[in-house]
Amino acid sequence: MFLRFGICLILFIFLNQHVTASYKSYDGYKILEVPFKHKIAKRYVQNIDKHFGFMPDFLGENWKKEEAHFFIEKDQVAKVGDALKFSNISFNLRDVDSKMFTFSRKRRDLANSPISITDINTRYLSYDEQIQFLNNLASQFPNLVKLQNLGNSYEGRPITAVRLGDDGTNKPIVWIDAGIHAREWISYNAALYFIWTILNDPNYRQLLQNVQVNVVPNTNPDGYEYSRTTERMWRKTRSRFTSSKCAGTDGNRNYPFFWGNEGVSHSTCSEIYCGTRAASEPEVLALTNAIMREERRIKAYVSLHSYGQEILYPWGHTKNSHPSDVQDLIRVGKMMATAIQNLHGTQYNVMNSGDGLYPAAGASDDWAKSRGIKYSFTMELSPSDDYTGFILPEDRIFQVNRETFQALTTLVRVVSQEFANRTTTSTTRISAKFQRTRGFGSGK
Ligand code: ARG
Ligand code: ZN
Repeated sequence: MFLRFGICLILFIFLNQHVTASYKSYDGYKILEVPFKHKIAKRYVQNIDKHFGFMPDFLGENWKKEEAHFFIEKDQVAKVGDALKFSNISFNLRDVDSKMFTFSRKRRDLANSPISITDINTRYLSYDEQIQFLNNLASQFPNLVKLQNLGNSYEGRPITAVRLGDDGTNKPIVWIDAGIHAREWISYNAALYFIWTILNDPNYRQLLQNVQVNVVPNTNPDGYEYSRTTERMWRKTRSRFTSSKCAGTDGNRNYPFFWGNEGVSHSTCSEIYCGTRAASEPEVLALTNAIMREERRIKAYVSLHSYGQEILYPWGHTKNSHPSDVQDLIRVGKMMATAIQNLHGTQYNVMNSGDGLYPAAGASDDWAKSRGIKYSFTMELSPSDDYTGFILPEDRIFQVNRETFQALTTLVRVVSQEFANRTTTSTTRISAKFQRTRGFGSGK
């Protein structure tokens, strides 16, 4: 008895130590903050790789302060400081608390307590826990939830789509996906909260009568697990298609629209490596195939990211280029931002994704728009104006979940009002014909 207890204890200690010991240390790393209000500074930031001789890891920006944030490796700190001083650019190199980048996984007995909405609102889950949560919802709401495997990740984890309100008719679809960037953990919880709440709150559930919502709460499970267990700041997938020492592709540079053009890197070790070719990543291939199968019905696309508190609309592959219906995107983007603000006053900035600091080609929002999906957005969730970045403390998950829910249901309503067929008879035929005559082109 005691022996068994002893073995368990040793095992427990070993496992716990293993979790923290294997985590990458970010000792000596700094966050570089560069105000870009002035034209000269902005131009400097936009060409920062040329000044530094390498592309630093861009974390996000604070649009209120007009300040860009980069993550600087220990060995580069001195070089970066010298370069900035040499060019007379004002900056701040902030120490990071490296404890922030470790993560003690709470041990729980999966068999004894199913994942609840309280978990979704208070802690970050493992991929397996996310799947377990979805399976439970599917058995609880068999008529409203269908789980669909879109394909497997590079390491073989299923990419699961949750089809909400799929009743076999031709209703318009809102597509929501999350977490193509592994370190943006809040996006996974926000997607799961959306799924749970739209099912459980009767006021929202009725939206599913007119609109179907497809949610892919984890588009990069390999990267996420790697971020949870090994490197907190991991962003990319975990694929290896070359003999390089570096793994992973930036999934949001891998979509087949202006692939490889601008704001990307072709070196495998870069955080914005665009891959060996468009849709080289099994995750991106699975997602693009799934969207194309239903693209005539999909009227809105949202990709959840963090951080910055921004609602971004296309085009983002280059500067000064907007789709012809950009006013509609701005109008609906602003409605989403207002819905968030009405909750607790949190402000989101509605902006074009190419006109800000960086255009980036091969991103999912542009690709979705190019397929004729009218309302295509990238949402950068909280925070924006504090120092936590991707490491959003768990006690703030709930508020972000609720805010994101408000924005997303606003979009679902818009789609319902603009696209749902209100006649109840022969819906399928009418809307199929309706869509064909509208002539979906390139969406440019
Ligand atoms: N933070 C996102 C990224 O870097 C923003 C993408 C916005 N969309 C775009 N087409 N640039 O991937
Ligand atoms: Zn991102």
